[in-house]
Amino acid sequence: MTILVTGGAGFIGSNFVLDWLRQSDEPVINLDALTYAGNLENLASLQGDARHTFVKGDICDRALVDRLLAEYRPRALVHFAAESHVDRSIHGPGAFMKTNVEGTFTLLEATRAYWSGLADDARAAFRFHHVSTDEVYGSLKPTDPPFAETNAYEPNSPYSASKAASDHLVRAWHHTYGLPVVTTNCSNNYGPYHFPEKLIPLMIVNALAGKPLPVYGDGQQIRDWLYVTDHCSGIRAVLAGGTPGETYNIGGWNEKANIDIVKTVCALLDELKPSAEGPYARLITYVKDRPGHDRRYAIDARKIERELGWRPAETFETGIRKTVQWYLDHPDWVARVQSGAYREWLDKQYG
Ligand code: NAD
Ligand code: DAU
Repeated sequence: MTILVTGGAGFIGSNFVLDWLRQSDEPVINLDALTYAGNLENLASLQGDARHTFVKGDICDRALVDRLLAEYRPRALVHFAAESHVDRSIHGPGAFMKTNVEGTFTLLEATRAYWSGLADDARAAFRFHHVSTDEVYGSLKPTDPPFAETNAYEPNSPYSASKAASDHLVRAWHHTYGLPVVTTNCSNNYGPYHFPEKLIPLMIVNALAGKPLPVYGDGQQIRDWLYVTDHCSGIRAVLAGGTPGETYNIGGWNEKANIDIVKTVCALLDELKPSAEGPYARLITYVKDRPGHDRRYAIDARKIERELGWRPAETFETGIRKTVQWYLDHPDWVARVQSGAYREWLDKQYG
């Protein structure tokens, strides 16, 4: 038995592959285009491990996807590959439409052709697991209940609109063709290998470099944070026991305002690597808000708990401490991801 993973060199995908191979010997075929967000260094510990096969390629390449399915005959496909950063989607939405919409369409069509040719028992057991986001539901008011799986889709950014489109395609391929799909909609992840364009790693990396910590708007926007290995265990639970055609929200019951996240990161750094210049919070700088910025996300994760017995293992306190410590312990990884292209992005976004 084998699984095919897309986007397994990115933040969540690489954590998923590493975790998967810690828990089982089932081989992983890892298809990733190695965009700016893909990093083979995340998978360095798997070098020489016959259970992991890395293939550099684009999910929009139908011939390549057909070939991988025919050659490796996976029992499941876990689809992480995406353009994932909201701010980049505001500057350039085209890549998001291409990968997130056309790429998902290509995978669905290739998978449908492969799955149709399987024997009855293998067809029934096959899964197409689509990894999606809570951002498809839009923005909550302060007193609204958290997002349930039944919430209407109200995406507000080019990124979330492209993910919503991909969710709809996945749903339709189940209803029309019977493809056994499951979709998970997860809240904000954090943890090791998080690319420092996203809030938490950006704050850690900037603080250590003595640079400003850019907080958008009033910093009171709320996100629901989940440690990345808890997202991975949620995906494994849905892949193993989820019902085809169903969607499952995954979240940590952990709503926090951005400014509180930034202050927590500063306080941990003050404790673990104090700066001679004084507390890191001195670097906090309020900057222009993100256009169309969603005010609040929160996940109601009762369905996955009730039906599949999943719960997060980390609290925010344990997860954020591990995360800050990981960045302190991996200065070489941090230095290498800060390429010229990364610096160009910071200039474009923050001036
Ligand atoms: P990421 O940007 O860190 O990684 C994306 C990976 O996909 C990279 O390795 C990249 O090289 C690869 N990729 C991009 N375009 C590709 C293409 N055309 N063909 C093949 N590979 C391609 O993203 P992430 O944060 O790890 O997110 C993974 C998935 O989880 C995404 O689908 C995202 O929407 C979803 N998600 C993310 C979060 C979060 O907080 N990061 C939360 C919920 C859901
Ligand atoms: O909710 C799940 C989503 O979480 C995923 O689908 C996305 O792929 C992932 O990128 C993330 O989206 P966000 O937009 O919530 O994450 P980001 O880290 O970019 O921003 C988190 C919050 O912090 C958001 O309210 C914007 C704010 N922010 C972000 C950056 C980069 C700042 O205030 N300053 C910053 O410099």
